[in-house]
Amino acid sequence: MSSFDIAAIRADFPILKRQIRGNNRLIYLDSGATSQKPNSVLDAERDFYVNHNAAVHRGAHQLAEEATELYEGAREKVATFIGAHVDEVIFTKSATESINAIAYSLGNSTPGSKFHIKAGDRIVVSEMEHHANLIPWQELARRTGAELVWFKVTEEGRLDLSNIDELITSRTKVVALTHQSNVLGTINPLDEITKKAHEVGALFVLDACQSVPHYRVDVKTLNVDFLAFSGHKMLGPTGVGILWGKKELLDEMPPFLTGGSMIETVTMESATYLDAPKRFEAGVPNMAQAVGLGAAVDYLNSVGLDAIHAHEVALTQKALQGLQTIQGLSVIGPKDLEMRGGVVSFAVEGIHPHDLGQALDQYGIAVRTGHHCAWPLMKRFKTVATTRASFYLYNDFDDIDALLDGVERARKYFAER
Ligand code: ALA
Repeated sequence: MSSFDIAAIRADFPILKRQIRGNNRLIYLDSGATSQKPNSVLDAERDFYVNHNAAVHRGAHQLAEEATELYEGAREKVATFIGAHVDEVIFTKSATESINAIAYSLGNSTPGSKFHIKAGDRIVVSEMEHHANLIPWQELARRTGAELVWFKVTEEGRLDLSNIDELITSRTKVVALTHQSNVLGTINPLDEITKKAHEVGALFVLDACQSVPHYRVDVKTLNVDFLAFSGHKMLGPTGVGILWGKKELLDEMPPFLTGGSMIETVTMESATYLDAPKRFEAGVPNMAQAVGLGAAVDYLNSVGLDAIHAHEVALTQKALQGLQTIQGLSVIGPKDLEMRGGVVSFAVEGIHPHDLGQALDQYGIAVRTGHHCAWPLMKRFKTVATTRASFYLYNDFDDIDALLDGVERARKYFAER
C-alpha cells in the first residue's frame, strides 16, 4: 500500500463488515481498549498452528526449528519497529505483565545491588496512570517500604511538572510514567523528566501502550530504560506483550518468573540464568501470538506509521471540533491537537456516561464508558466515569460523523425524558 487508502485498509478487517444491534454498521471507536485485527494477523496465527506448531527453543525436529525461526523472526520485527536491539525485546503475555516483571525484578534484587529498593527510596508515578502502571508500583512500595509520590495533572489534562525537583530527588529510584494517557489522550513531554531521572540515577519506565501502536516510538531517542506495550492494541493478538529494556540492565536484573528455557545450569539446589531476553521468558511462550504480533508489525509498516498518525490527527481534530459544539458536552483532556493522540474523553451534562454509551451502542457505535482503569484520574476530574472514543487507522470520517450525530441524538433523547 503506497498511500493511505482507507477503503483498502477497512477491507482488511473482516469485523468491520458486521452489522450491530439490528442493521447498524459497526462503528468501532474503542481501539484504546483493544484494536481489531487484519486478515494477515489472523492468517499468521492460524498458519502457525496449522503448519508449524511446536515448542520453540526445544527439540531438534523440523517443526521446532520452523517455530523457533518464526518466533525469533517476530522478535526481530518488533525490535526494528521500536529501534531496539533484538536481545532487548522480551515477549510477555501483556503490558501489565511487562510492568509487573520490572517491579518484581527490582523487588527481588539483593541488598547492595544497584536495583535494590528499600525504605526511604522513592518511586515516582503520575495521577494519569492507568492501573497497570500504578498498582505494581504501589505494591513494590508496600513490599519494600519505599515511598510512592506522583506528578499531578492540570485542569487541561497535562502533567504538572512545576514540582519536578521536589518529586525526583537523590532518593528516587524509579520514575514510571505513561507516554500517552488512555483517558485524556495527552502525550507527555518526556525529555525533561528522563533527563532529571537520569541525573539522580533513577530508572525510567515508560508505559507505551497507547503510543507504540499509533506513532513512531524509538527507544534510543526517548532515552528511557524500560518500555512496556501490548500486542492486542496494535492489531496483534491478545496474550502477547512486550517488555523492552536496556541490555546492560536486563542482564543484571533478577528474573521475575523462573522455570524452563531461562536457565544456564541447574542442580538440585540452585540454578544460574541466561541473559536477556531468555532470562525473562520462562516456560513455553505464547508463540502463535508472538508470530501474529510480527504480522501486525508488518501490516503497520506497510501502511506507514507516519500516515497512520496523520490520519488519526485528522480524525481527532474533527471529533474535538464537532463534540465541542454539542450542548452541555465537555471534553476531559486537552482540547487542541498539541501533544495529544486519538483518544477523546467527554461528559454530557445530565447524562451518565454509561447511559450515553448504551445509547450509542443502539446506533452501532462502540465506545468505552467507565473509569478506564484510571480511578485516581477520575477523582482528579471529580467524576466517576467518562465516555471515551478512541481512533485507529481503520476509522474513517463517516465514523466521526456517526459519533457526533449519535451523541447529539442521545442528548436530545435524554433531554426530552
Ligand atoms: N487500558 C485499556 C483502556 O484504556 C484497557 O481501555
